Order: sequence, then C-alpha cells, then structure tokens
Amino acid sequence: MNAKPVSASTVEFIRTMTQLDANLSGNVHGGVIMKEVDSAAGTAAIRHSGRRSVVTAAIDEMSFLEPVHVGDILVVTAMVNYVGSTSMEVGVHVEAEAMETGSRRHTTSAYLVMVALDEHDQPAPVPQLELTTDLERRRRERAIVRRQIRTERRSRLGAMKGDR
Ligand SMILES: CC(C)(COP(=O)(O)OP(=O)(O)OC[C@H]1O[C@@H](n2cnc3c(N)ncnc32)[C@H](O)[C@@H]1OP(=O)(O)O)[C@@H](O)C(=O)NCCC(=O)NCCS
Repeated sequence: MNAKPVSASTVEFIRTMTQLDANLSGNVHGGVIMKEVDSAAGTAAIRHSGRRSVVTAAIDEMSFLEPVHVGDILVVTAMVNYVGSTSMEVGVHVEAEAMETGSRRHTTSAYLVMVALDEHDQPAPVPQLELTTDLERRRRERAIVRRQIRTERRSRLGAMKGDR
C-alpha cells in the first residue's frame, strides 16, 4: 500500500448556519458543530484509507471557544495527523465566518480517531502518511503523545470496570 500525502485527504466543509441549527437566541447548538466535525473527519479518513467504511472510535475533548450564530458560515477543515495500523487521527479546525465582513474566528478544535473497516466490518490496514512539511511532522509528533494518553486512559479506566 503506497503512502499518501496529508494534502490528498484534507477536506474543507462549508455550510451556512440557519435557524434550524440554533436555539431561540440564535446560538448554534454544540451538537450541530460536533456533527460537522465528525462528518469532515470521516471524509478525510475515507479519502486517506480508500475505504468506504470508516467508524469513529474516539473523539477527544472538544471545547467551544466562541459562539457561532445563525447566518455565520461554518468552515470545517479536517486533515490526517497520524496513521497507526488501522486507525487514523484526524485533526479538525473549525472557524465561523461573518458573511458580511468575511472575518473569521476560531471556534473549535478537535481530534478524532477513525478506524477503517473491511468487508466483514473488521479493522483494516490503512496506507502510511507521507509527511512533506515541518508542520505536518510536528502534528504527527503531538498525535503520538495523544495516542499514548488515550491508550493509558483506556487501560486505567478498563481496570476500574465494575466499580460503579
Ligand atoms: C472502533 C472499533 C472498530 C475498534 O474495534 P476493536 O475490535 O477494538 O479493534 P482493535 O482493538 O483492533 O483496534 C483497532 C484500532 O482502533 C484503535 N482504537 C480502538 N478503540 C479505540 C478507542 N476507544 N480510542 C482510540 N483508539 C481506539 C486501536 O488503537 C487500533 O489502532 P491501530 O490499528 O492503529 O493500532 C470498534 O470498537 C467499533 O466498531 N466501535 C464502534 C464505532 C462506532 O459505531 N462509531 C460511531 C458511529 S461511526
């Protein structure tokens, strides 16, 4: 399986926020943004893996730094930071653009672990990541630390099962 560059799978989703996405005060629901984040990450992972079936295994903590309003354009960028054997860490950056001025503000960042599945719904190998810039190399290094933290967290919480 040939390695693929980060640029080959990077995606940008753009969608105008409407009343259907918001509460009565015109603030967009966090869940709407989470869905866009998950969809963009899934698309980047499908592009990288070349597999139609990709599931979200984990989403790291998500913070909402600024409110998004009805009429804002949501710009969601997703790129693969790291590739394991069957999993991919996808980093997602969300900005809200004010339609009239074009000014953008960073509202959310998130990291998701996506797993490619084969025809039998079993984890399937994915191509390695070809890193071409220093920024991509730095992102991969940070992703490795997050992977270690996730693994440790899962094993510690797993050891506590049955304590509730
Ligand atoms: C994700 C899933 C396929 C993993 O299955 P599994 O039997 O645990 O498979 P494995 O143990 O072989 O793990 C596969 C990869 O996923 C990673 N992974 C599995 N669970 C994870 C978790 N909770 N957090 C982070 N990574 C995880 C493993 O580290 C491994 O990565 P690697 O191959 O790059 O080393 C399975 O748990 C699943 O189907 N979950 C439901 C997914 C879902 O429905 N998502 C929401 C809708 S898309």
